[in-house]
Amino acid sequence: MSKIIDQYRVTAEPYYHPVADEVELYEAAYSVRMPMMLKGPTGCGKTRFVEHMAWKLKKPLITVACNEDMTASDLVGRFLLDANGTRWQDGPLAVAARYGAICYLDEVVEARQDTTVVIHPLTDNRRVLPLEKKGELVHAHADFQIVISYNPGYQSLMKDLKQSTKQRFGALDFNYPSHDIESEIIAHETGVSTEIAEKLVSIAERARNLKGHGLDEGISTRMLIYAGSLIVKKVDAHAACRVALVRPITDDPDMRDALDAAVSTFFN
Ligand SMILES: Nc1ncnc2c1ncn2[C@@H]1O[C@H](COP(=O)(O)OP(=O)(O)O)[C@@H](O)[C@H]1O
Ligand SMILES: [Mg+2]
Repeated sequence: MSKIIDQYRVTAEPYYHPVADEVELYEAAYSVRMPMMLKGPTGCGKTRFVEHMAWKLKKPLITVACNEDMTASDLVGRFLLDANGTRWQDGPLAVAARYGAICYLDEVVEARQDTTVVIHPLTDNRRVLPLEKKGELVHAHADFQIVISYNPGYQSLMKDLKQSTKQRFGALDFNYPSHDIESEIIAHETGVSTEIAEKLVSIAERARNLKGHGLDEGISTRMLIYAGSLIVKKVDAHAACRVALVRPITDDPDMRDALDAAVSTFFN
């Protein structure tokens, strides 16, 4: 197969600890090429999950981090000027559709709605991608699948997916893993002892209870991994938690005190 697509192959197994039946459900969804939406707070394992599934299904994975400056051309492709005139360059969505990759649009609500609609013809049974400027209709490869991630906490009236987009997807809910699984993940990813991993998770659980009571978002698994990796580098646990867990999520002095106190409960 093409060299272009080879760079997107996932060759080593990305570590993923299943939380419920998401692996089986995703495999079933992939088998019918159902477009999938992974919903959940930031840093809870959505990206890792899709990397793991691409590896398991032996499909290339093309990830696009969405942002509000992104245009339809950034996804679909554009003409470029070179010495010989103009040359068409496929965008990531066109590459994925042509060669049969899983195309993962990360944080899709960040993209403007007029950008997001270009995925529509790929998500119904036509499975096509019109390259309007080029005058080509790409029929998606049999292996192609589209996956989007979505943080339900972040949407506002200005920024949300249209119902006409949402209803084209099956959805899996993600959340922070249970205490034991999350501790295992932290220990695996950083090399801290189970005992320290459990303390970090306990601090996060306290902070997660403050979501909506002064915190917009809880401490994520990703942040715990940052804290653990500092501790492994012999940073004092208090300092590690301050840097990785407390300071990033709030500027409110009272909230910082409350979180620092939670840290002191577990690391004394
Ligand atoms: N179930 C899981 N199994 C393995 N690692 C996980 C899991 N959940 C979270 N992680 C870890 O947390 C980090 C952040 O997760 P990520 O997938 O980037 O979050 P999201 O895409 O939801 O923002 C990952 O790099 C990984 O180390
Ligand atoms: Mg992600």
